[in-house]
Amino acid sequence: MPDDPWADFHDHERVVVARDPESGVAMVIALHSTVLGPALGGTRMNAYADQPVPRAAAYADAMRLARAMTYKNSLAGLDHGGGKAVIVVDPSTRTPDLLRAYGRLVSSLDGAYITAGDVGISIADLDVISETCRWTTGRSPERGGLGDSAILTAVGVLAGMRASVAVTLGRDTFEGLCVAIVGLGKVGGRLAQHLTDAGADVIGFDPDADARARIADISPSVRLVDSLEEVLAAEVDVLSPNALGGLITADLAEGTPARVICGAANNQLASPGIADVLAARGVTYAPDFLVNSGGVIQIAQEFIGGTLEQARVQAEGVFATTLRVLERASTEGVTPVTAAEQEAEDRIRHRRAALGGVV
Ligand code: NAI
Repeated sequence: MPDDPWADFHDHERVVVARDPESGVAMVIALHSTVLGPALGGTRMNAYADQPVPRAAAYADAMRLARAMTYKNSLAGLDHGGGKAVIVVDPSTRTPDLLRAYGRLVSSLDGAYITAGDVGISIADLDVISETCRWTTGRSPERGGLGDSAILTAVGVLAGMRASVAVTLGRDTFEGLCVAIVGLGKVGGRLAQHLTDAGADVIGFDPDADARARIADISPSVRLVDSLEEVLAAEVDVLSPNALGGLITADLAEGTPARVICGAANNQLASPGIADVLAARGVTYAPDFLVNSGGVIQIAQEFIGGTLEQARVQAEGVFATTLRVLERASTEGVTPVTAAEQEAEDRIRHRRAALGGVV
């Protein structure tokens, strides 16, 4: 947590800090950019109880995550800027009234921000928020939503992996490739299934017994191992982080046998400089914010009344974008992270110019 709560306030357009008068719960909405369109991004519910200054940590989180959404949405080709919100409360204490109050806060922004789910907010919560806010997406099919976004997140990651494997290993199929998956939850589990269906050898780890049982049932050919160390040390072609952030430490970057790293987890690199370590070793790191956009593509389609099939086609587009980013990285001698950021910024710059610099 930074000493200065505003340290992450770079070039954000707007940060709204409010309090629900009934419960006293603080809420933060950070709009990083609306150049490409209304800011789109999830709402996180967390008390930040483990942080020395919980509310400052919440501001910092909202601002950092909003900025990341600007990049993700731009690369995904969406006409949306980046925004993110935090409701500063322990999710176990949430009430429908609090969610409705939050919906009213989002409504007060008049469409500048469209909210969806993030850690601590479920599809059922979004259904409640939508009662007071029409700028809500990621709802249940019963409420006109497209359901679990992990389905298309896995599709996008697979597409990004296919491009990374083609560029790095010169292979246009997963047949016979070895892939290690860390985290076999909603995204990782589906990815494991896609990969085994495509003929890859998959080795996986998840500490959760239910997740392991599900995989053993759906994809029995996945080799489950007992520890994180074991899955990270496995001789594989591809490593796919699909659990928490920060998995790729300096030590792992120096030692991983994998030639490609590509997964859905947000903020995979423990520090930015690790992108250089990986590039120097010839390991292709497909940036998380480039390949994990299938979910936001799905909720963007839902918001305009599109279908899951339309969203799926768009999520497959991660393949072409990843090829373009990796080619740019190679041509310009920069890391894929830098190339992806430049691609995202180029699109925003062009749009800003087309709008006459008024946004
Ligand atoms: P999930 O909660 O369904 O799955 C995460 C899995 O990781 C769980 O099964 C958990 O037991 C496991 N896990 C926890 N600690 C672990 C460890 N040390 N080693 C291995 N496994 C561990 O979450 P989901 O939806 O599959 O998301 C996975 C990642 O992808 C998260 O970082 C999420 O932020 C990111 N993501 C997800 C999107 C989505 O649409 N679900 C969209 C974009 C990013």
